[in-house]
Amino acid sequence: MIRKRSSRILQAAFALLVLPFLAACGDEHPQTTFQPVTEFGELINGLFYNTTAWTIAILVVVEAALIYILVRFRAREDRPDPEHIHGNTLVEIIWTVIPAIIVAVIAVPAVKAIFELQRPMDAGAFEVEVIGHQWWWEFRYPELEGVVTANEMHVPVGRTIYLTMHSADVIHSFWIPRIGGKRDVNPTPRPREGEQPKRTHLQFTINQAGEYDGQCAEYCGTAHAIMKMRVVAHEPENFDRWVQAYRATPPAPTDPLAARGQELFFRSPCIACHAISGTRAIGQIGPNLTFLGDRWTLGAGTIDNSAESIARWIRDPHGIKPGAKMPGTRAGAAGMPATGLSDEDVDAVAAYLFSLTTEASMGAVTPQPVPTDTTQPPAQAGVPTPAQTR
Ligand code: CUA
Repeated sequence: MIRKRSSRILQAAFALLVLPFLAACGDEHPQTTFQPVTEFGELINGLFYNTTAWTIAILVVVEAALIYILVRFRAREDRPDPEHIHGNTLVEIIWTVIPAIIVAVIAVPAVKAIFELQRPMDAGAFEVEVIGHQWWWEFRYPELEGVVTANEMHVPVGRTIYLTMHSADVIHSFWIPRIGGKRDVNPTPRPREGEQPKRTHLQFTINQAGEYDGQCAEYCGTAHAIMKMRVVAHEPENFDRWVQAYRATPPAPTDPLAARGQELFFRSPCIACHAISGTRAIGQIGPNLTFLGDRWTLGAGTIDNSAESIARWIRDPHGIKPGAKMPGTRAGAAGMPATGLSDEDVDAVAAYLFSLTTEASMGAVTPQPVPTDTTQPPAQAGVPTPAQTR
C-alpha cells in the first residue's frame, strides 16, 4: 500500500519535472527571449547564459562535494569521533578568493552592459517617441513628420532605433521580448522652467525583418493585461514604401456603405478623440486611426481586426475590454456620454474604418519599383484622392 502510494508520488513528481520541458517544445514562441533579433537582446542573453553557467557549475561542485563527504565520512560503529578543529587559514582564503573571482566574472560584463545600454543616441539613429496610455501604445516618428501609429511600431531593419519613452498617465513598461529587456515608461510631471521632462530610452538595431510582439510589463490598471503591441521591422526599401503609403490620403471608399460611414464619421463625436492623417479628424485622446484596416488587432491586441469586430467595438468596447476609456453606443466612459449611434450607423462607420488600408492608399501615390518584395500586389495608379475629387 505504502509502496503503491510512494510510486504514485514519484510518478507525479516526474511528470511535474518533465512538463516544463515539454511545454518548451513546438516552434511558435512569439514572445521568447531566447531568439533575440537585436544586439541588445544578444547582449542581455549573453549575461544570462554567463550567470547561469557559473551558478550551475557552483551547484554541481557543491552538491558533489556534499554527497561525497556525507558518504565518505558517515558515522560508523568502529570509527572514532573526528578531531575537533577551530579555523583553517588556507581553506578560508580559498573559499573567499574563489567566490570573489566568480562575482567579478559575473559583475564586470554586467556593469559594462549597463554603460553600453545607457549610451546617448547614436549618430544617424532613427528616433521613435513611445507614449504609454491606459491601455494602448502610441508611436510618433519625429523624422517622418505627421506619421503616428497606435499599438504597432514600424521601423527599418539594419538602422539603430532610439526610443524616447514617456507616459500620458501612469507607469507602464515597454517590453518586446525578442528585442530585449524591459524599460519603464514614466508619466511626465509638469516640468519646471528650464527643466527637461523625464524620459527613458532604449537603443537597438533589428537584424531581421519580421513582426515582434510585446506587451506592457508593469501593472497599470484594469486592462493592463490587454496592452499589447507589435513591432513591424521592414527591409529598408519596404519601409520607405510603407512610409510613402502611410502618408498618402486614402482614396474615397467606393463601397456605398463605407462611403456613408465616412460621412457619418466626420459628423460624429469620434473625431474629438481620434485622428486620421490627411483629414480633419485630429483628436489626440484616443488611438490614431490612420489605416486602421491594416492593424493586426483592435484594442491593443484584444480582438481580431475586421469590419464586424470594429462594429462590435464601437457598440460596446467595455464588453470586449473592461476599463476601455471609449464610450459605447449605449454606455458612456471616462466622463464622456454614450455616442448614441444606431446599429446601421455603426456598421457604416466600421465599414469605412476597415476600408482604410495602405494597400488602397498606394493607388494615390506614384508607384515605385520595389526590387525585393514580390508578395505585395502591384499598386494601382490613377485612383483620385478625396483631395483631388473635392
Ligand atoms: Cu500599461 Cu500595464
